[in-house]
Parts: sequence; structure tokens; C-alpha cells
Amino acid sequence: MGAYDETYHRSLEDVEGFWLDAAAAIDWTRPPTRALDDSRAPLVRWFPDGELNTSYNALDRHVENGHGDRTALIYDSPVTGAVRRFSYAELRDEVALFAGALRSLGVAKGDRVIVYMPMVPEAVIAMLACARIGAVHSVVFGGFAPKELAARIEDAEPAVIVAASCGIEPTRVVEYQPIVEAALGLTTHQPDQVVILQRDRARARLGGRYVDWADLVARAEPAGPVPVAATDPLYVLYTSGTTGRPKGVVRDNGGHAVALAWSMAAIYDIGPGDVWWTASDVGWVVGHSYIVYAPLLIGATTVLYEGKPVGTPDAGAFWRVISDHGVKALFTAPTALRAIKRLDSRAAEPKKYDLSSFRTLFLAGERLDPETYHWAHRHLGTPVIDHWWQTETGWAIAANLHGLEPMPVKPGSATVPVPGWDVRVLDPGGTELPAGQEGVIAIRLPLPPGALPTLWGDDQRFIEAYLSQYEGYYLTGDSGYRDADGYLFVMGRTDDVINVAGHRLSTGAMEAVLAAHPAVAECAVIGVHDELKGQLPRGFVVLKAGAEISGEDLREELIAAVRRDIGPVAAFRAVSVVEALPKTRSGKILRKTMRGIADGRDEPVPSTIEDPSVLDALRPVLRPE
Ligand code: COA
Ligand code: AMP
Repeated sequence: MGAYDETYHRSLEDVEGFWLDAAAAIDWTRPPTRALDDSRAPLVRWFPDGELNTSYNALDRHVENGHGDRTALIYDSPVTGAVRRFSYAELRDEVALFAGALRSLGVAKGDRVIVYMPMVPEAVIAMLACARIGAVHSVVFGGFAPKELAARIEDAEPAVIVAASCGIEPTRVVEYQPIVEAALGLTTHQPDQVVILQRDRARARLGGRYVDWADLVARAEPAGPVPVAATDPLYVLYTSGTTGRPKGVVRDNGGHAVALAWSMAAIYDIGPGDVWWTASDVGWVVGHSYIVYAPLLIGATTVLYEGKPVGTPDAGAFWRVISDHGVKALFTAPTALRAIKRLDSRAAEPKKYDLSSFRTLFLAGERLDPETYHWAHRHLGTPVIDHWWQTETGWAIAANLHGLEPMPVKPGSATVPVPGWDVRVLDPGGTELPAGQEGVIAIRLPLPPGALPTLWGDDQRFIEAYLSQYEGYYLTGDSGYRDADGYLFVMGRTDDVINVAGHRLSTGAMEAVLAAHPAVAECAVIGVHDELKGQLPRGFVVLKAGAEISGEDLREELIAAVRRDIGPVAAFRAVSVVEALPKTRSGKILRKTMRGIADGRDEPVPSTIEDPSVLDALRPVLRPE
């Protein structure tokens, strides 16, 4: 048996032993004596009697172990021209001060803090400062509109919001204060204070509930790490589900720290002192886990990059960062590589830089198309490792475990289940399918440490959304199959979630925006294949009888409405006015069939279709010749 087989089997057969051993990599104020608590199954808790502080594990312990001078974080910002380095001692001090500042505002253990910030070191400092005092952070991605921010404020009920005055996009400066102000105009919950980090490109008006980060920190006393229960929440991260209401994915402290520390060595082959770069955003789970927590938990150096893969300043931006900072491994989304490939298809740029430190490229967030895989592999000369996971899981469900036992790569496959994850492929009735047959991908309970224990304040929704379809399983929402060697191929979502440039969005939420327009009788939004972004949303609307608006005006209004209500990140730019939408006899819109036709697949027409001529009329709109 190889190292992978042995570890995988032990993780499922000796759950207690496996995870208690892994827990030894973390410093506990009270070490756990048990790993799994399933007394409230299907809800489970990890390390129920353990107590720790995540910020202490990410910062102080490395300083105390003599590594205070080691670089913890490199901030590289081509959009502002800044490069700043923080040693572990410096980052700990900044975090302790901001933790004290939060406390001076009355933030206490268990309180929520919304962090609405671009990719600046202060975003990381704010997250770790919350962890330090046992407050629960909820980071909101900057590309969301006020309404989305408002939904998160209403659900999380934060004591304080921490924001910056602006974010910097290639074509514009995004002022955050008007977005926060508009969001607070929509919520009944009203936090007393909004801390603003002033940035030169656009400054916010201070006064009233808006307080200055720098002033606050200048007056603050540093705060030490507060021990919390392993099962206490570290953060809530909202993610798109099938409806317009985002789901508040909860992450605990203990299971999260143990799982992430384990993953850095076993999956990514990264250890203390290695330079690690995740090119994502702190607003997404990949940013939480692999920009902030995992690299710092193990004492590595993490790169925080504020910019795009291309155009900052050119298609060589990624290779410049790798070369400047001696990056050993890069983790990003396939869409970032496709953006680079589009401008530099012959890969002239990587050759201009010294990439001798660079060992591995890890990709996740969306399906890695074989063409992008081959391009990267051919031109970078490093292994290119696809791995599959979700906001809910917090770390990889399937991967090629580079530290444990690298395996041959099969393009299109995320390789094998990661230890701890009992992955099964089921038919609609819940029976396990043999190799080669595609079905829904489900995970046998319990989910390992690091995975969500519940949704914020809503155990019932968690059970209904994920644990109820097949008894004893967590439903991933993805479909796929395993081949005869056990390799897992993830093919796509079975629900209304789409993936646009690695950003997870809900077509259901977009439909709700379209349906609210007074001229729209009914609508559908589907995700269609896009060369660069993987998928793009496309809307189809049927006008109400007697609606007096031109198709062109309606299209413009609907596109503006999605941008206003969901945000620019939705990238909603295509909407067609059609005569009718194809439906089943029971009135369900045939979105899957529409998607298949739009993507050029030979999609069978369901026998339940009400009127095949509606679909025939739509074909040329879905897929123009
Ligand atoms: N704040 C405000 N606006 C944002 C934003 C942010 N943090 N991020 C994106 N936007 C805006 C963009 O400015 C753009 O606005 P526009 O319509 O006015 O041009 C819109 O949202 C769409 O953005 P995006 O989909 O990112 O497209 P892009 O053309 O700006 O960049 C890529 C395309 C592929 C380069 C970029 O999406 C990328 O780097 N993706 C990687 C994603 C990733 O890391 N995912 C995490 C999972 S690993
Ligand atoms: P998110 O919660 O934003 O991380 O998005 C999770 C979803 O992205 C998954 O459910 C998949 O649909 C998709 N996804 C992520 N990584 C991969 C991958 N490596 N291959 C295929 N799909 C992926």
C-alpha cells in the first residue's frame, strides 16, 4: 500500500486516532482528548473539549519559537506601486493593536465584524484581530453591490463594520463608503461604528459612525489572544446558493486550524519558511484558507497580491511576482491562466523571469479545462495540479496530494479523494454508481474537520440544503464520475450555482432581479460556456402582455438592475427577449436543456416537455450559427 492509500484508509477507519494525531500540529490552551462529537448527528463538532486561539497559532507561536524575524506576509500591489513586508513579529503587533482597537469599540467574544475591504494587509490584520479576541469575522467581497452587502449585514448582525475608503480596479476606483451607506440604508440592523482605512486614491468622509483606522489604532492598547472553544465560530462566509438568499457558511476554530495545517504539508508540500502565493481575493474561501490562515498557521510566507493577472502592467505580472519573491507554489483559478494565455499564447513572458524557485501550480475554483492544463504544463515546466473544493468544505475534497504521494496527472480530473473525505457517486435514488458512470457527488458523513458545521443561525437550513437528500450523506451540488483507477472527474453543478471567472454566483438570484422588473412576465438565467471566464450568465425574458418598452431599453435596464442589485462581479451582459420559455407539462422551465443547447451539447429533449415548438423557436437564440 502506498502512502496515500494507507493514510486515506486510516482517516476513515480510525477517525479519532487520525485527527488527534493531526491536532498535535496546533498549540492548544487545552488540548482535545476527543476528535469527533457526533452526539447531535447529523450535526457534528470536532475537538469538543479543545480550546485554542487561531491568531496565536498563526502568529505568536512562531515568534515565541524564535521566528519573529521571518517574513509572514508580502504585500505586492501593482495597482498602487507598493511592496511591503511584515515579519511575524510585526504582523503579530499590528494584529494585537487592531484587536485592541476593536475591543475599544466594544467588540467582544462572539460578536460579528463585517470586513469589506480590498486586497490590502489591513484586511488580513482585521481578520486575525477578530480571531484574537474571539470575534467572528464575515468578509464580503468588494465586487458585490449594496444589496448583497445589506443581506449579509442583516443576517450576521455585526457589532462593527471594517472597510477601506476604496478598492482599485483597472478601469476605476471603487469607493466603498457610498456602498456601505447604501447598504445600511436597506438594513434594520445598524452597527454603531464603521472603521475606515483611508487610502489616498479616494478618501472617505469621517465623523458620525465613521471612525478612522489610523486614529483608532494610535489610541489602542494591544490585545492578547483569548482562548476559545475549538467549536466556537471563527468566521461566517456567505456564499451563493440556489436562491437569492446567501448561505452563511460557518467555520469553527479547532477543526479549521487542524485541517488547514495538515493540508499545507500533505496537499501542497509547503512548510515553514516557504514562500506561498494564492492569487485570489480574501473575500472568497480560497482567500480565507490559503491567503490568510493555512500559510500563517504553518509559519510559511504568504503573498498578498492586489492586482489582476493581466494588465498590471502586462501579461507577465504573475511571473514577475514569482520571481521577485521567490515563490515556491502558486494557487489560482484557471480563469486567471486563461486571461494570461489569451495575451501571451506563446508564453514569451515566463521566459523573461527567473522562475527557479517555482515548483508547483495549483488550480481550483472552477473546472480546469484540458486545454488550459496543457498550455500551463507545456510552458511552465512545473506540475499543474487541479483540485476540487467548495466554500462549504473549506479545503480540498479531491486533490493530487503533492506532499503525501504525488500521482500521475489526468487532465480533467481533480485526482483522488483527500484523506478525511469519503467521496461517493450516487444515482438519483441514492445508490452508488460503478466507475465510469456520472452521478451526483456526495460525501459520506461525517465531514472531516474544517468543513462547515452548520449555516449561521440556521441548523435546519443546513440540514435541509445539504444533508437531507440522501441519508448519511452531504450533497456537494456537483456531478461527476470516478474512473477505473479511482480518479474523480467533476463535471459541473446540478443546481443553479454558476462559476464566472472563478466567482460563485446564483442564477436564481439573477432571476429574482429580472422578475422584479414590471415589464417581465417570466424569465430564466443560465450559465453558458465562455472561453475566458469559464461561464457567463445569460438571461431570457418574456414580456408581459401590453408592456410598453422596447427590447433594447428593457435589455439595458435589466443589465443595469443586475449590476445594481448583485454587483459588477455578476458580469451580466447578455439578455434576450423571447416569445416563450420551454417548460415541462408541470410548468418547470427546462434550464438544463437550454444550457445544453447553448453549450453545443447533444442534449436530449425531455419527454415531459409541454410544447416542443417553443424550444425549437429558441434554438437559434440559444446557439446562433
Ligand atoms: N471590487 C469591485 N469590483 C470588482 C472586484 C472587486 N474586488 N472584482 C471584480 N470587480 C468588477 C470588475 O471591475 C468588473 O467590473 P466592470 O464590469 O466594470 O469591468 C466586474 O467586476 C467583473 O470582474 P471580473 O469577472 O473579475 O472580470 P475582469 O475582466 O475584471 O477580470 C479575470 C477577469 C479573469 C482576470 C479575473 O476575474 C480574475 O483574476 N479571476 C480570478 C478569480 C479568482 O481568484 N477566484 C477565486 C477562486 S480561486
Ligand atoms: P466556491 O464555493 O466558490 O469555491 O465554488 C465551489 C464550486 O466551484 C464547486 O461546487 C464546483 O462546482 C466548482 N469547482 C471548484 N473547484 C473545482 C474543480 N477543481 N473542478 C471543477 N469544479 C470546481
